[in-house]
Amino acid sequence: MTEGSPTDLDGMRQGERALVINPVLKSERFRATDGALEETIGLARAINLHVVQALTQPLAQTVSATLFGKGQVQNLAALVAETESLLVIVNHALTPIQQRNLERDLKAKVIDRTGLILEIFGARARTHEGRLQVELAALSYQKSRLVRSWTHLERQRGGFGFLGGPGESQLEIDRRLITARIARLKEELENVRRTRGLQRSARSRAGHPTLALVGYTNAGKSTLFNRLTGSEVLAKDMLFATLDPTMRGIKLPSGREAIVSDTVGFISDLPTHLVEAFRATLEEVQLADVILHVRDIAHPDTRAQRDSVLEILADLGIRGSDERLIEVQNKIDLLPPEDRMIHADYDARLTAEAAQTVPLDGLRQEAKGGMIGVSSLTGEGIPQLLNLIDQRLAARRQIYSLTLSVTDGAALSWLHAHGKIIEQKEARSKINLKVDMEAADYGRFTRRFLDLFPKDL
Ligand code: GTP
Repeated sequence: MTEGSPTDLDGMRQGERALVINPVLKSERFRATDGALEETIGLARAINLHVVQALTQPLAQTVSATLFGKGQVQNLAALVAETESLLVIVNHALTPIQQRNLERDLKAKVIDRTGLILEIFGARARTHEGRLQVELAALSYQKSRLVRSWTHLERQRGGFGFLGGPGESQLEIDRRLITARIARLKEELENVRRTRGLQRSARSRAGHPTLALVGYTNAGKSTLFNRLTGSEVLAKDMLFATLDPTMRGIKLPSGREAIVSDTVGFISDLPTHLVEAFRATLEEVQLADVILHVRDIAHPDTRAQRDSVLEILADLGIRGSDERLIEVQNKIDLLPPEDRMIHADYDARLTAEAAQTVPLDGLRQEAKGGMIGVSSLTGEGIPQLLNLIDQRLAARRQIYSLTLSVTDGAALSWLHAHGKIIEQKEARSKINLKVDMEAADYGRFTRRFLDLFPKDL
C-alpha cells in the first residue's frame, strides 16, 4: 500500500466501520511499514470490525496534542466523514490527551494499538483465567492512563485538586477503585496459579513430558495442535484465536505419551501490561520439556515475527540457544517446492547439521533443538516432527529396566512418584520393572537407594 494514499478494502466482515492509520515517523521509514499496516488490519478484523480504509501516514515529527500535524488531522477528519467511519485505529501509542483531542477533531472514537490488542484479547479469552488476565491487563493500562490524565488536568486547573479528602477528584476515586479491583484480580490469579501448579505436579508425577507451542499470532499454532493431537480445537483465520493454554495428550512414535499445550499468540510490541498479566500462562512454556516455536515461513515478515517471539521468550528467561527449542517452519505448502525444507529422514544423525545446511530463509542460524519444515494444513513433515520431538524427549528421558525386591516399598513408591512405570511383573519375591524416567532422576534414584540394590544398578 502506498504512503498517504488510502486503499479501498472490500469484502470485509459485518461490523463497525473503522479506519486504520499507521503513522510512520520519517526517522523510522526504513522499517517495513506495509507489514505493520497489514497486521493492524488483521487485528481489526479479528474483532469483526469493518475496515473501510487503511493508510500509512508519514510524520515529519509527532505533535504532542494530536500526534498528527494540523493539516493531517483535517484530512483525516474529512476521510472519517467521507467513509462514515465510527472508529479510528491508530497503530501507535497515544497519550490520553492525544486520544481525547483526536476524538474531538475527527468526530469518531479513537483507539491506539494497545487499546486494540486489549479489545482482541478480551474478545478471545475462553477460560475464567484468560478473562481474569485480560481484565487485569486492561485495568493496569487504564490506571496508568488515569494517572497521567489526572496530573495533566490538575496542572491545567492550577494544582488545586490534589489535596485529597472530601474534595478529591472523581479521577482519584476511580483510581482507587481500580487499584482495589487490581488487587482482587491478582489474588484470584494467584489461586489459579496455585491450582495450575498442583495440576502440573500431578502430570509430572504421571511421568508425562510437556510440549509447549509458541509462535507469532496466526503462525498456525492451533492448526498444528489439532494436527498433532487429532482434536478439533478451533483454528480460524483470526488472530489470537488462542488465549488460554489448551492441553491434550498425544502418543509419540516411540509409544511415549506427552502433553501438548497450546499457548497465547505472540505479537510484536506486546504491551507490557499484557505480558505481565499472562505470566501465569507463560509459565507453562518456561517449564515445558520441549518448546515448539511455530513460524509462518511463508509470511513476508517471517523474520521480524521470529525476532519478536524470541524477544518475548528471552523476557521469560528462555534463550534462543535453549536446547528445548525446536523451530517449526510452518505453511511450507505455500512455498515453491524447491524452497521447502523437510528432512524426510530426520533421525539423530541428521538433525543439527542437515538443518544448518538447508537454511530456508537464508539464515544459517538455527534453533539448538533443531529446525524442521511442516505444513500443519496438509500434514507434510508432521511425522518427521513427531520423530524429532521423540528424540528430544529421549535425550532427556529413558526407559530403565530394574529389579526390586517386593519388600522395597520405599524405592517402588519413589519410582512411581518420579517416573512412569510402563511394565511391572512380579516373579516370586522380585519385581521386574520398566520405568520411563529422566536421566537426572535415575541418577538421584541410584544415589538414594544405592545401599539397597548395589548389584542391580
Ligand atoms: P493465534 O491463536 O491467533 O495465535 O493463531 P494460531 O497461531 O493458533 O494460528 P491458527 O492455527 O489459528 O492458523 C491461522 C491461519 O493459518 C488459519 O487460517 C490456518 O488455516 C492457517 N494455517 C495454519 N497452518 C497452515 C499451513 O500449514 N498451511 C497453510 N496454507 N495455512 C495454514
